[in-house]
Amino acid sequence: MKVGILGTGKMGGALALGLVKGGVVGLNNLIGCNANEPGRTRFESLFQPQSVVTCADLKDWLPYLDVIILSIKPQQMRAGLEGLQGYRPETLFLSVAAGISTDQLERFLGGTPRVVRAMPNTPCLVGEGVSAYCGGQYATAEDLRIADQFLRSVGEVCVVPEEQMNLVTALSGSGPAYTFHFVNGLIEGAVKLGLSPDLARTLAVQTVRGSMGLMAHSAFSALELAAQVKSPGGTTIAGCEVMEKAGVELTLHAVIAAAKKRADELAAG
Ligand SMILES: NC(=O)c1ccc[n+]([C@@H]2O[C@H](COP(=O)([O-])OP(=O)(O)OC[C@H]3O[C@@H](n4cnc5c(N)ncnc54)[C@H](OP(=O)(O)O)[C@@H]3O)[C@@H](O)[C@H]2O)c1
Repeated sequence: MKVGILGTGKMGGALALGLVKGGVVGLNNLIGCNANEPGRTRFESLFQPQSVVTCADLKDWLPYLDVIILSIKPQQMRAGLEGLQGYRPETLFLSVAAGISTDQLERFLGGTPRVVRAMPNTPCLVGEGVSAYCGGQYATAEDLRIADQFLRSVGEVCVVPEEQMNLVTALSGSGPAYTFHFVNGLIEGAVKLGLSPDLARTLAVQTVRGSMGLMAHSAFSALELAAQVKSPGGTTIAGCEVMEKAGVELTLHAVIAAAKKRADELAAG
């Protein structure tokens, strides 16, 4: 299967690495396309000492490509897809662009293109991402299977109806940033009281990672797991009471709602 990557930036590079490392696509079947030289060089360096084919324009490769991953910025999509006119009808287009609907992708491409729209997140860069996806009106069951396999090479995968894509964006697409702010608060709070920044970072990162590992392997809800750590009169409950008084959880509801509203606005153009 020959795979072209339109836009070999952060997300395109992460997906390409996942596909090759996971043995889903051979390096000799990958073509990375970036409009500028530094973007191509950065992509090539991901695979050194082996070499990967790159190009400035996918046009000449269109007759050979089975899948094209669309990993350019949303605002670059219309122009980028205009450059793919003459694509093979069998080609699957897997878009990871935020806020561009399957309907828009189909219109930009023209004809009856086989399109799958996905929303990954930055932990895909280390193979720990989560992606949700949905198929366009011309995508076949086999297209969805291939998209699922591709996205799974960089993390977990969920299928959602397209109308939930903006909500997914607000939760898992933007979620890494919320998590980093939470962790930053833990680190800065401990540093203020005397821990070294390095030690605070190590402890905070592994606490969050370990807690999520525990939750992923558990049938208990988040609140039940929290209750298991909060012994009456103990240190944890003292900290949690401050969180509760500050309305941290309710604030997160508002965070999700604000991000969803913004995703809706962006999708509406
Ligand atoms: N990064 C994330 O956290 C994240 C998460 C979820 C989804 N996404 C989605 O992933 C997509 C890519 O994001 P990114 O962060 O990887 O962006 P990025 O690092 O800027 O990568 C995009 C690359 O594509 C190049 N490019 C633009 N138009 C092109 C064209 N017509 N042909 C070839 N190359 C072209 C850009 O070059 P120039 O720099 O010259 O423009 C840039 O190097 C976006 O649509 C975004 O919504 C990203």
